[in-house]
Amino acid sequence: MGISWREELALGVDQIDNQHKELLVRFDMLLTACKQGKGGDEVLYLLNFLDEYVITHFSDEEQLQKQSKFPDYESHHQEHLSFIAKLADLKKRIADEGVQIDLVLDTNKLLLDWLIRHISVRDKAVGKHLRGTY
Ligand SMILES: [Fe+2]
Repeated sequence: MGISWREELALGVDQIDNQHKELLVRFDMLLTACKQGKGGDEVLYLLNFLDEYVITHFSDEEQLQKQSKFPDYESHHQEHLSFIAKLADLKKRIADEGVQIDLVLDTNKLLLDWLIRHISVRDKAVGKHLRGTY
């Protein structure tokens, strides 16, 4: 299963959709680097960028939720925090152990299980709310 952007992930909110596209492109770069056996430094560099980008993206998304009084803000925010913690964990493991095969698998899992599900379920609800159809 690929991780490229697909139309069914669109929320209909351009700012957020564009950030999600960028996130998926960047995660794809990270996975490719892992699979090609790139060194820890390069993987860490990609992961650091992603970490900062994720924080900016979540904060933009949460800002929109707060402005529009999205009712599930609190639990959505908690999911964002758990993703940030998982990324921090990946970073620590790369820094400590380098790029190992189980790390590649975990990165893949984090992406497919978490990010795609989060966008297609939780963020979709935000999109509906923002478009006034919640
Ligand atoms: Fe979200």
